[in-house]
Amino acid sequence: MPAPPSDARSMRGELISVRPSGSDGVVLTVRTEIEQPPLRAARFFMLRRDDRLSPAIPRPFSLYRQNGSELEFLIKVMGQGTKALAQSTPGTALRIVGPLGNGWPTLDGSGAPWVMLAGGIGSAPFYMGIEQALRGMDGAKACSPSQLIYLYGAAHKGMLYDLELFEALGTPVHTCTMDGSHGHKGHVLQLLENLQRTGAVPQKVRILACGPERMLEAVEAHARRNQLECWLSLETMMGCGVGICNGCPVPTRPEGPMGSWTNAKACVEGPVFSTEAVTMCHAH
Ligand SMILES: Cc1cc2nc3c(=O)[nH]c(=O)nc-3n(C[C@H](O)[C@H](O)[C@H](O)COP(=O)(O)OP(=O)(O)OC[C@H]3O[C@@H](n4cnc5c(N)ncnc54)[C@H](O)[C@@H]3O)c2cc1C
Ligand code: FES
Repeated sequence: MPAPPSDARSMRGELISVRPSGSDGVVLTVRTEIEQPPLRAARFFMLRRDDRLSPAIPRPFSLYRQNGSELEFLIKVMGQGTKALAQSTPGTALRIVGPLGNGWPTLDGSGAPWVMLAGGIGSAPFYMGIEQALRGMDGAKACSPSQLIYLYGAAHKGMLYDLELFEALGTPVHTCTMDGSHGHKGHVLQLLENLQRTGAVPQKVRILACGPERMLEAVEAHARRNQLECWLSLETMMGCGVGICNGCPVPTRPEGPMGSWTNAKACVEGPVFSTEAVTMCHAH
C-alpha cells in the first residue's frame, strides 16, 4: 500500500495573519511548530483549527508560498471548514498534517515551454512552481521566464486571486474570465488555442493544470488529442490525506505506468499525476 511521505508530521501551528484575496478568498500565514525545509511546489497540508469551530476532519490545501516555517495558503471559502479557517484571527491554534503528496515534476528548462493552466483557486500550487522553475529544480537547467507561460482563468475577475503577485514573478501571464470581466472571454483552453493560433505560444508545449474537475477533463482530452505531456494537480475530496480512508480514488489507465490498479489514491500517489497514468475522463 502506498505510504504517506516520510517527512509528513502531525503538528500544531499558529495563525500569523489572514488577508483577503479576490471576492471570496483569503491568504492564511501559518507558523508550524516543526521547522520546514524548502518544500516542493504542489505539495499540500491538511489543516483545521484546534478548537470546535472546525469540522473534525481537516481539509487539504496546497502550499501557496513559503518563508521557512511560515507557510501561506490561498483558500477559497466553500463550506464549514474553509469558513472556520477564514474567520480565524492571529494567534489561533491550528492542527496541521504535512507536508503531504508529491508536488510538480521537475520543471526543467531544456525542453518545450511549460504552459501552466490555472482555474480559479487552482492557482495556489503555481506560485512556487514558477519560482522553483526559474531557480532550477533538482539540478536541472533553470527555465527562462519566457519558457513559463501562466494562463489564469476564472468565472469572473474577483476569482483571479492575487493576480498582481503572479504578474510580479516576471513570466508571461494571460487571463480569461467566463463573463469577460478580465482578459479573454472564455475558458483557459480557448485562451491557449487563441495564443497558439496567433503564434504567441508554440504548438509543442508541456502542460501543468490545476482547477475544477470539468476543466481538468478538458485539459486532459486536449493533451491526448495533441500528444502533449501533461500533469494535473487534483483537488479531489479527501478524508485522511495519508492513504487510509480510500476517500480520494482516481481512475488509473491500464495501459499507463501505474499498471493494473483500477484506482490510485490522490493523497499519497498524487495530487500531481501524469495523464499517462490516470484519467479524469470517466468515459475513457
Ligand atoms: C490536494 C488538494 C489541494 C487543495 N488545495 C486547495 C487550495 O490551495 N485552496 C483551496 O481553497 N482549496 C484547495 N483544495 C480544496 C479544499 O480542500 C476544499 O475546498 C475544502 O476541503 C472544502 O472544505 P469546506 O469544509 O469549506 O467545504 P465542505 O463543506 O466540505 O464543502 C462545501 C461544498 O464544496 C464542495 N467541495 C468540497 N471540497 C471540494 C473539492 N475538493 N472540489 C470540489 N468541490 C468541493 C462540496 O461538495 C460542497 O458542495 C484542495 C484540495 C486538495 C485535495
Ligand atoms: S484521503 Fe484518505 S486515502 Fe486519500
